Amino acid sequence: MKSFSPIRALTTLCVLGRNVLPAQAIDLNPDDPSSIRSAAKSVAEGLVGMYANINGDQTNVLSGIPGLLTYPPYYWWEAGAMFGQLIDYWYYTNDSTYNDMVREGMLFQIGDQMNYMPANQSKDEGNDDQLFWAFSVMSAAELGFPNPSSDKPGWLALAQSVMNQLNDRWDTQTCNGGLRWQIYQYIAGYNYKNTAANGGMFQLGARLAKYTGNKTYADWAERSFDWLAQSPLLPGDGQVYDGTDVLKQCSSPDRTPWTYNYGIMIGGSAYMYSYTNGSQVWADRLTKFIAQAQQKFFPQAQGNGTVMVEICEQSQKCNVDQWSFKAYLSRWLAISAQLAPFTKPTIMPMLQKSAQAAALTCTGGDNKNICGSRWYMDQFDSSQGVGQQMSALSVISANLISEVKPPYSADSGGTSQGNPSLGTGGDGKPAGIEFDEVTMADKAGAGILTALALIATVGGGLWLSF
Ligand SMILES: *[C@@H]1O[C@H](CO)[C@@H](O)[C@H](O)[C@H]1NC(C)=O
Ligand SMILES: *[C@@H]1O[C@H](CO)[C@@H](O)[C@H](O)[C@H]1NC(C)=O
Ligand SMILES: *[C@@H]1O[C@H](CO)[C@@H](O)[C@H](O)[C@H]1NC(C)=O
Ligand SMILES: *[C@@H]1O[C@H](CO)[C@@H](O)[C@H](O)[C@H]1NC(C)=O
Ligand SMILES: *[C@@H]1O[C@H](CO)[C@@H](O)[C@H](O)[C@H]1NC(C)=O
Repeated sequence: MKSFSPIRALTTLCVLGRNVLPAQAIDLNPDDPSSIRSAAKSVAEGLVGMYANINGDQTNVLSGIPGLLTYPPYYWWEAGAMFGQLIDYWYYTNDSTYNDMVREGMLFQIGDQMNYMPANQSKDEGNDDQLFWAFSVMSAAELGFPNPSSDKPGWLALAQSVMNQLNDRWDTQTCNGGLRWQIYQYIAGYNYKNTAANGGMFQLGARLAKYTGNKTYADWAERSFDWLAQSPLLPGDGQVYDGTDVLKQCSSPDRTPWTYNYGIMIGGSAYMYSYTNGSQVWADRLTKFIAQAQQKFFPQAQGNGTVMVEICEQSQKCNVDQWSFKAYLSRWLAISAQLAPFTKPTIMPMLQKSAQAAALTCTGGDNKNICGSRWYMDQFDSSQGVGQQMSALSVISANLISEVKPPYSADSGGTSQGNPSLGTGGDGKPAGIEFDEVTMADKAGAGILTALALIATVGGGLWLSF
């Protein structure tokens, strides 16, 4: 994930969908499930229209390649995140219209080694990029999404593959452990240890532990959490910082608050709370993360919450990755309300107000179903794209959390095929790619993004002033 590249700040994308619906603003009543479902349906149509011709071929409308959004501006990881959102959409609404398309896209990108390091992408793939695909296959297993055909690995096996690779990449050489942001050392972000990678491993481990009952995954989750807790990234009061520089011995954090980092930690803590049958330790951590998220991203929150805001959106300086971040805080707040019911009274008003406001922005595009970026404006602000659309879809469908059954695990209805050894046996890097094969063009491409990343990191304080 290229969280810091301001160069794509103002990128917007033409909407490729066909005209289907009459023009009408979406009026959402969060107390009425059918109203939420119909809003979600309309917004999902807008999202899918940015990927595929929803009435015809089920592959990317421009490239013809399943599982990829159009690059530029969209990096590989965001397609993985989008499929996760569409799995959630099916789970929340029971509308299976896009299931075949989602399954085909997710399986097309698994790579020759079944490790979510496909050859076209792996050279500049980060741990967090890979994790966002893993979150989606994990959701597919937990929610009972239609399984792959028997000649393909199961959703669970794919999540296990990523977890095993992350375990192999655990780096004890610097900063007492932890994962680096990037997988390859020729990418400058290699020297950044961040919350998305380590918190992501924490969350994936928690979910695998809960699904499989295998304690090893819980141990790996705890190890990731404990590493974050002893680093400057989790100061202990529920704040979640972004990352820290290996070349400075991880001595100080980039404190920029991003919704997705909080979402990752809230989701992981909720799964651990559930896995441990309600331990007080995880209840306390979860409570603190939620309280800080509420304070930072729901301004004027007075107990009931107001409307979710990403800090870069006020100045419209989010990059194409960052526009999607509110999707993940919404997604995992809902999971917390479900798995840790004591958090529900705090969370639901946050989700309800945000969903109502988000729906009011979805009047863009020919079909009047394209959503804007600043939900508190109560109208379309002309900032549109896959990230904005996913965020709105996520917060709207999250309001159906009381209507749906909790995630399956292997001993409670889950049918996903596992393989605990998939993705093991390497150094966490895909076989068949040698450093020599990386061309200068690849290096330059990666270097430009990460040089910007490092500038932004060094100037991290600037982001706080938005
Ligand atoms: C969900 O949709 C399927 C068909 O796709 C149907 O068989 C099932 O009854 C529906 N479930 C609910 C709860 O509506
Ligand atoms: C990799 O790129 C080639 C050339 O564009 C394309 O034919 C192939 O489908 C791509 N593979 C994946 C998994 O995206
Ligand atoms: C949670 O409770 C179940 C059922 O009582 C038990 O089998 C399981 O071992 C418990 N899990 C943990 C982590 O204590
Ligand atoms: C907060 O919620 C409570 C209970 O639903 C309600 O009585 C109160 O008026 C709400 N406050 C605000 C500021 O919306
Ligand atoms: C539990 O997971 C670990 C790590 O992948 C694996 O080595 C072990 O075989 C698994 N145990 C079982 C019973 O599947």
